[in-house]
Amino acid sequence: MIALGNDHGGYALKQEVIKYLEAQGIEYKDYGCCSEASCDYPVYAKAVAEAVAAGTCEKGILICGTGIGMSIAANKVPGIRAAVCHDCFSAQATREHNNANILAMGARVIGPGLAVKIVDIFLNTAFSEDERHIRRIQMLEG
Ligand code: RB5
Repeated sequence: MIALGNDHGGYALKQEVIKYLEAQGIEYKDYGCCSEASCDYPVYAKAVAEAVAAGTCEKGILICGTGIGMSIAANKVPGIRAAVCHDCFSAQATREHNNANILAMGARVIGPGLAVKIVDIFLNTAFSEDERHIRRIQMLEG
């Protein structure tokens, strides 16, 4: 189960991500928002981050204008490793090295074609399980 969240800036791009998930038969839970009316991104970032941290959802995808506010907010929740990715290399590397559990993207930064490709890589790349990466991730939790 993939948790989705966005603000007004990310609403349109979320629809493209949903089309991809549905075409792939991937289950998702949409934590909102559900329109382009102005809203506050921390609300949706927190809801998605808590769902992932609790294990209700395996991974999350957060979309705002830049991806930055969403990632800052999500990373406040213990156990969350949210990464802003706007290129394919970063999406692959953050799964392999950081075991990132939330992908954040900015709808004002990239177009839907690249965004969906990044989602595909993020969801289909496994953590490396390398000892050095496990150690570094453990260090993140203090
Ligand atoms: C909203 O205007 C914008 O600030 C938000 O979508 C996001 O980019 C914040 O980081």
